[in-house]
Amino acid sequence: MESTSPNHLLILLLLLFFLFFFHCKPTLSISLLPKQALPTKSGYLPVTPTSDSAIFYLFYEAQKPTSPLSQTPLLIWLQGGPGCSSMIGNFLELGPWRVNFRKTPDQPLALEPNPGSWNRIFGLLFLDNPIGTGFSIASKPEEIPRDQTHVARHLFAAITAFIDSDPSFKSRPIYITGESYAGKYAPAIGYHILENPGRVNLTGVAIGNGLTDPAIQVATHAANAYFSGLVNERQKVELERLQSEAVALTEAGNWSAAVAARGRVLQTLQNVTGLATLYDFTRKAPYKDDLVEELLRNDDVKSALGAKRHVVFEVCSDLVDEVLHEDVMKSAKYMVERLVKESRVLLYQGHLDLRDGVVSTEAWVRTLKWEGIEGFLGAEREVWRVNGELAGYVQRWGSLTNAVVLGAGHLVPTDQALNSQAMIEDWVLGKGLFGSAQKENFTTNSLGPMSM
Ligand SMILES: *[C@@H]1O[C@H](CO)[C@@H](O)[C@H](O)[C@H]1NC(C)=O
Ligand SMILES: *[C@@H]1O[C@H](CO)[C@@H](O)[C@H](O)[C@H]1NC(C)=O
Ligand SMILES: *[C@@H]1O[C@H](CO)[C@@H](O)[C@H](O)[C@H]1NC(C)=O
Ligand SMILES: *[C@@H]1O[C@H](CO)[C@@H](O)[C@H](O)[C@H]1NC(C)=O
Repeated sequence: MESTSPNHLLILLLLLFFLFFFHCKPTLSISLLPKQALPTKSGYLPVTPTSDSAIFYLFYEAQKPTSPLSQTPLLIWLQGGPGCSSMIGNFLELGPWRVNFRKTPDQPLALEPNPGSWNRIFGLLFLDNPIGTGFSIASKPEEIPRDQTHVARHLFAAITAFIDSDPSFKSRPIYITGESYAGKYAPAIGYHILENPGRVNLTGVAIGNGLTDPAIQVATHAANAYFSGLVNERQKVELERLQSEAVALTEAGNWSAAVAARGRVLQTLQNVTGLATLYDFTRKAPYKDDLVEELLRNDDVKSALGAKRHVVFEVCSDLVDEVLHEDVMKSAKYMVERLVKESRVLLYQGHLDLRDGVVSTEAWVRTLKWEGIEGFLGAEREVWRVNGELAGYVQRWGSLTNAVVLGAGHLVPTDQALNSQAMIEDWVLGKGLFGSAQKENFTTNSLGPMSM
């Protein structure tokens, strides 16, 4: 065999280089966002006729609708915060494609299909609310809402603009859904829709691990942590003292001091328990919303989603959080009281959440001024199974349903994708334990003999 001359070697190396380059190029150019993961439509919706402020939206049509699209339910998702982007909901929780949040640090970021997506049989609209959040635009900081009435006005403008953008949207039943601080946004926009009838076909409101009546809810942490075995008696007493401060300041309408006091309750709970996150006391590390931020700072992804170039994506906006500071401790319960009379309400909680969990929700629900409340509190809490496996508990009376989701923390769809999908589908379609007639019959029959 001849020896390879230096020239030949160079050519060979060049050849190898080009082979390598052309081989790799397609891999490199595969976007973080596969074509199938593109939304049906996305962009911006105006919030007032007089400014450039706008709400960013992403819409995914139902994958396998079971009815004509003009009758297919449409879910609207709102993230909490205040100031966190609904792209967390989309890419970490319930959207059709999620970041690979179970990856090890050395594996690259990628999107993977979510078998528990909430758009399997329903349309799904994500809104970055309020303006200044996620990809949404606040043309001036002064335009960012400072209270729920203002939040609702902006959302109403955005939702009606979305509905008007396609004649087939007009007749679709609309469900407002959301999580955490959306425990206030969802009732606020629902209430506003009822006040302005004829524009939005509101059919129900669903709230996951919500903050809805903060004064009642802040008073539950000590007992919840104590009876979960996470604090001792002395720490419980200390937490109770801090909680009473938060409650007293809220009752005095000293909003700013009240938020700070609530912060001390949560920070103390965090400090004494040493948990990775209060959002799920079994987690070894917090939820990976940083991956959503990494995804959405990619320029190709941004332009494919129709987001404005100049907006630097943040999962949560400190500015919006700051502007809504004085709103935090204000209650949205009166809006739920109207919604439960004129619409349907689903509350659900991942049961490992120490911030806005099961006990915290039950505490304000039992104070609802609603003619069905006695019926609800007396209704059986049924064991809920999905495909034969224990999924949680469902308690329902008339228009109010409360579901406890086992094996989930604050972000229920992240932790229990398929069960969260079964829950939302059954609730919207009125099936199983989430269904209509069956429950009253059972309760009436079982209470009948006793009341004689
Ligand atoms: C609203 O949705 C319901 C289904 O929940 C449908 O029967 C009704 O026709 C819709 N209303 C309007 C005004 O389109
Ligand atoms: C609000 O509470 C803080 C802390 O207790 C107190 O210093 C402040 O004076 C209160 N403000 C009003 C207006 O009462
Ligand atoms: C919690 O711990 C941090 C860090 O040790 C400390 O700075 C903070 O003051 C503590 N907060 C409370 C409310 O105990
Ligand atoms: C509920 O009871 C009524 C009257 O007994 C009956 O007609 C109806 O079919 C029952 N509904 C269900 C879902 O069992």
